[in-house]
Amino acid sequence: MSSYIIEGGNKLEGEVTVSGSKNASLPIIAAAILNPGVTKLYNVPNIHDTQITLQILKYLGCKIKKNRGKIEINSKNIIKKDIPEHLMNQMRSTVILAGAILGRFGEAKFSYPGGCDIGARPIDLHLSAFQKLGINITEEYGFITCKCDKIIGANIDLDFPSVGATENIILASIYAQGVTQITNAAMEPEIVDLAKCLNKMGAKIEGAGTNIIKITGIQKLKDMSYTVMQDRIEAGTFLCAAAVTGGNICLNYKTPEHITPLLNKLEEAGCIININDKKVYIKAPKKLKAVDIKTMPYPGFPTDLQSVLASSLCLAKGTSVIVENIFENRYRYVPELKKMGAKITIEGKTAIIKGVRKLTGANVKSTDLRGGACLVLAGLAAKGITTVNNIEYILRGYEHLDKKLNDIGAKIIIKEGE
Ligand code: EPZ
Repeated sequence: MSSYIIEGGNKLEGEVTVSGSKNASLPIIAAAILNPGVTKLYNVPNIHDTQITLQILKYLGCKIKKNRGKIEINSKNIIKKDIPEHLMNQMRSTVILAGAILGRFGEAKFSYPGGCDIGARPIDLHLSAFQKLGINITEEYGFITCKCDKIIGANIDLDFPSVGATENIILASIYAQGVTQITNAAMEPEIVDLAKCLNKMGAKIEGAGTNIIKITGIQKLKDMSYTVMQDRIEAGTFLCAAAVTGGNICLNYKTPEHITPLLNKLEEAGCIININDKKVYIKAPKKLKAVDIKTMPYPGFPTDLQSVLASSLCLAKGTSVIVENIFENRYRYVPELKKMGAKITIEGKTAIIKGVRKLTGANVKSTDLRGGACLVLAGLAAKGITTVNNIEYILRGYEHLDKKLNDIGAKIIIKEGE
């Protein structure tokens, strides 16, 4: 496993461009399975998770042409309907490919996606929704086999506004007989992007972005090209990187309305934020003020930015309280931050962060994607050298993170693993 070696203490200053969204790209790549023709996607980030997803499409029989962020997917000759276990295990969110395979072929086989570093990550909401759509499900030897003659539109009321389950239901219902209505649907911008892409292909999806989504089954999709939205979590990560280093940066980022909760918290913490002409400017104070956050489904504060903001709050004046309401194990970065001098106590789903005068560099390890990003940000602000190990977690979700940070004043080098 490789490491970042970070020399801390440099203010971040300059301009950085936010890449395409990981969490919009994955379901949109899955959507290309539904079109038995050619789908062209632009602004797809070249990261581990998109690479794995494209590997699975190739395994299924898709022809893939990649040229930096441009991806051309020809799904005419898909011959397989199962997701290989070794690829499924590398990334649990490949479960949304099952919805697309089912939507087109009425059958799919995949292994139970393991839990991951941030929680059990069950898929009960996905499976019960598939059953409501008339799909038979058998589970044996760790594999799930889904089969049906025809997907029949249904009314599905989600117990929790699960992002993945909402996406899977949309993908599985595109060609359904009749109408599918999702109540208590997730409202994340990535779902809106997926619906926009599918509607451009000829699907009939209404209400994406609200908690009631209606999908009217259609017969055929058409070839088209689509540009994936920018990554709101990467945007938030850079804003917190500026905040934790007392920096002053400009983000080339077109949809700040997607991260209003974070912008509000950063202003409450003393940052000056200006938005104009597709750019977001942030000027951070020498010392942030403590703030409290509660993670919630969109449009609440995003769970994916919880750890990233936490690193900024370690050096704030006062005590901050974080409540993580989405995942049950999303504080695994805390013991690593404490090695750097952070004062954090965990009580159930609450983290209490007592601001300290300084953090000092240490040898720490990424425990998951956003936990790893949190440690990078802490290293940027810490006195001395921080080694962040297991950066493969971080490379799953951030495109050229070290280069982008170095271009605005950070000092990060990569030490390749054995
Ligand atoms: C998506 O994960 C994102 N991943 C996550 O981002 C993000 O944190 C999450 O949504 C919440 O916003 C992708 O889009 C690839 P959920 P997903 O289903 O779909 C429980 C990142 O860092 N649940 O909304 O897996 C689940 O256990 C990643 O980029 C069930 O109980 O999230 C969790 O507690 C991390 N049963 C909660 O719902 C189910 O069947 C939210 O999960 C499904 C989910």
